[in-house]
Amino acid sequence: MLNIKIEKTTAPKRIPQKGEPLGFGKIFTDHMFMMNYTEGQGWHDARIVPYQNLSLDPSAMVFHYGQEMFEGMKAYKTDDGKTCLFRPDMNAKRTNGTNKRLCIPEVPEEDFVEAVKAIVKVDEAWIPTDPGTSLYIRPFIIATDAFLGVAPSKTYLFIIILSPSGAYYASGLAPVGIWIEDEFVRAVRGGMGFTKTGGNYACSLAAQVKAHDAGYSQVLWLDGVERKYIEEVGAMNIFFKIDGKVVTPMLNGSILPGVTRDSVINLCKSWGMEVEERKISVDELLEAQKAGKLEEIWGTGTAAVISPVGKLRYKDDVMLINGGEIGELSQKIYDTVTGIQLGKIADPFGWRVVID
Ligand code: COI
Repeated sequence: MLNIKIEKTTAPKRIPQKGEPLGFGKIFTDHMFMMNYTEGQGWHDARIVPYQNLSLDPSAMVFHYGQEMFEGMKAYKTDDGKTCLFRPDMNAKRTNGTNKRLCIPEVPEEDFVEAVKAIVKVDEAWIPTDPGTSLYIRPFIIATDAFLGVAPSKTYLFIIILSPSGAYYASGLAPVGIWIEDEFVRAVRGGMGFTKTGGNYACSLAAQVKAHDAGYSQVLWLDGVERKYIEEVGAMNIFFKIDGKVVTPMLNGSILPGVTRDSVINLCKSWGMEVEERKISVDELLEAQKAGKLEEIWGTGTAAVISPVGKLRYKDDVMLINGGEIGELSQKIYDTVTGIQLGKIADPFGWRVVID
């Protein structure tokens, strides 16, 4: 038990009303969760305070060597007014996977989930209910030692902020165009590709700018060694339907173990579909496309949920997928995942977690 102290704001902000466009990650609620770590003392001083700026020493290690991690989760309101999370235990586990790799102290899983539930409960009036909206939850940890030496920090801050949000892509469920990057790489095996840390996203920006300039909305990364095998999209894992089978890159240490990825694999298997987690080369995709067997592509992520891919570019080849339209399976997966999240359909897996 964290024994969280709660200090409510005396100046509540205006909560966006039904029908107001929210965008993604632009609006923040009235409160935030904070907890400190000090070597020898562990995590301490769990508190919920009014949303505010941080005051940090300019030499704080996070600014210089990037020792930080983050997570992405969502809270929803069901039709009967309950506040729900989706598989928060998976985010707690992944947090500690990231923390181990980055020498950040682990957060007990039950404390992580308790903190998320507590802050969401305090600001639950901010959970939007328009279709496609949710309360995006961003837990993160930063290294705060005032020190310019390269070493693990001895002090940290764990913070959770909340953002009422709409679709991650402005296009919503409309299929996106994806650029297969053949110059830059995101991660290599043995690196930190499987973690949620800012460096993985900073290193994606140059390729993203290139892709945007060419009219594509996201970058699909290839493996860092042979530049031949499909990895992930950065903000999403990627799935292919090839000749009736669902195929997705296996977890190889350089891609993110996505919560939505795992959920989609489980769903497809529960529908009796064959799901292969394995290496997929870009050549295999090109050949499948030529043979008319590349039936659907979609990305999965907490922010993006399910994002159909309508166009895929690799060097001089541009592949139009399912005529640029959302595929039948992508739509079924989207309806099922969001149906479970929003409590509109049964949850045979026990993924929905109600906050009392
Ligand atoms: C998420 O899907 O929650 C993420 O953290 C990805 C982020 C780039 C928006």
